[in-house]
Amino acid sequence: MKALLIVGSPRGQASASRALGGYLLRRLRASGLDVEEAAAGAVLGSPERRHALYKASDEADIVIVSFPLYVDQLPAPLVQALELLAERRRGAMGLTPWPGPFEQKLAAIVQSGFPETSQNLVAVDIMRQFAKEAGFRWAGGLALGMGGAVGRRPLEKAGGRLRNVVKALDIAAASLAAGGDIPDGAAALMARPLMPFWLYRAAATWGFRRRIRKNGARTPRRPT
Ligand SMILES: Cc1cc2nc3c(=O)[nH]c(=O)nc-3n(C[C@H](O)[C@H](O)[C@H](O)COP(=O)(O)O)c2cc1C
Repeated sequence: MKALLIVGSPRGQASASRALGGYLLRRLRASGLDVEEAAAGAVLGSPERRHALYKASDEADIVIVSFPLYVDQLPAPLVQALELLAERRRGAMGLTPWPGPFEQKLAAIVQSGFPETSQNLVAVDIMRQFAKEAGFRWAGGLALGMGGAVGRRPLEKAGGRLRNVVKALDIAAASLAAGGDIPDGAAALMARPLMPFWLYRAAATWGFRRRIRKNGARTPRRPT
């Protein structure tokens, strides 16, 4: 079996989306799957990479799309890459229509800066609809809030705060590698808050203030 990870963050390699998707991909590789990875933004920049994405997605038994919310939506480069993929699978651009002779699954990992996991659920639904329209079987989604606390390091090096995230990805990988979907239990574990809401908000506010100072910006004056 073969798995393809599409990283939908404009930050590419240095993103929480890649930390999460990359960990799942490594677990699948450890279970014997061939794995491949593409970044949505990089694919748009070159015809060669676009064709490499078409080829990789044609061959993949499982496609995993890992992305953040940007302005409440899928990041624009990811939307474009998915539209290209859907067109290619419909047989546009003179290409042979796909899906081919075997079933292909699609799963999504969605995270964002909001503390509440529920903020990501519309994006999960969008991915489920994309799977249907592009001829994939929907294998489920993993959503989490507090994405700002995930970091960009490989999850193998993550501390205890991310233990439920790691456990959820382990369960999802085991099930996908065995031909199943993402179990509801994995989605429920992933959805758990990484810390108390007040602590996340306090850390985020501290981070924003630090960046304001670093960039010499000022808090705008309130209109009188
Ligand atoms: C331009 C921009 C827009 C964002 N918009 C949202 C948003 O609408 N809602 C939200 O919860 N987080 C938003 N965020 C925060 C990201 O979703 C969050 O930091 C996420 O963890 C980034 O993941 P990544 O490292 O994979 O890109 C935004 C971040 C950026 C840079």
